[in-house]
Amino acid sequence: MSTERVPFIAGNWKMNLDHQQAIALVQKLAWTLSDANHDYSKTEVAVFPPFTDLRTVQTLIDAEKFQIGLGAQDMSQHDSGAYTGDISGSFLKKLDVKYVILGHSERRVYHHEDDELIQAKVAAAFKHDLVPVICVGETLEQLEQFGQSAIPVAQLKKAITGHSQVGEFIIAYEPVWAIGTGQVATPEQAAEVAKSLREAISEVLSEDIAQRVRILYGGSVKSSNVAGFLKNPEVDGVLVGGASLQVEEFAGISRFLKHLTL
Ligand code: 13P
Repeated sequence: MSTERVPFIAGNWKMNLDHQQAIALVQKLAWTLSDANHDYSKTEVAVFPPFTDLRTVQTLIDAEKFQIGLGAQDMSQHDSGAYTGDISGSFLKKLDVKYVILGHSERRVYHHEDDELIQAKVAAAFKHDLVPVICVGETLEQLEQFGQSAIPVAQLKKAITGHSQVGEFIIAYEPVWAIGTGQVATPEQAAEVAKSLREAISEVLSEDIAQRVRILYGGSVKSSNVAGFLKNPEVDGVLVGGASLQVEEFAGISRFLKHLTL
């Protein structure tokens, strides 16, 4: 973590927890963090539930004045119309959703999303005043063929190029080989790619934007390994899958500062 950027801890629930289970998890998470006197101004915490949970979680956060942020896992590149099954950014905005994950490797693989589509979705997120969490990462074959940074940098450049309007955005570097496998990247690997990604932002947009964008690491993050990633000034947070479904684990990850001696 750097001193200028507020660390961001994001829980991507993927297709887990219905809206009733969501209430239980968010309540318990907020209470656990509150018991630990968590300072949200020093470490932001956000959850990314499935679409069908969003309204319920938003109502809960609102009613209880929880400081947990809310994000969606995907959105359409279109505003409205005959797109069966899709969700517009304007619907998310109406629900006070602030963040939206775009280009997750599971969507790239299972829904054949390519860089062009992700670029269009990023444009739609900016248009609807949502903060995209743009996911990039290489497969094991790509790692062996091209090295570590080439694919993530190429994916990022495409996603942030050609926009008439650029708002706040976050990058998540998630090596595909580290997602849900328990095979975690080393903090040095994550920091090296984060550095290349920041250079790419500077090249495509500006150095000022590059210094403001938060770059997260994702892939088999746990409370026991999170501090190693956040120790490096290039890494500004984590995108957590499996461990975000366990309150104690996710609260432990959110409280990484406790384990960090800078
Ligand atoms: P895991 O933390 O389960 O490896 O998932 C990472 C991820 O894909 C978060 O978006």
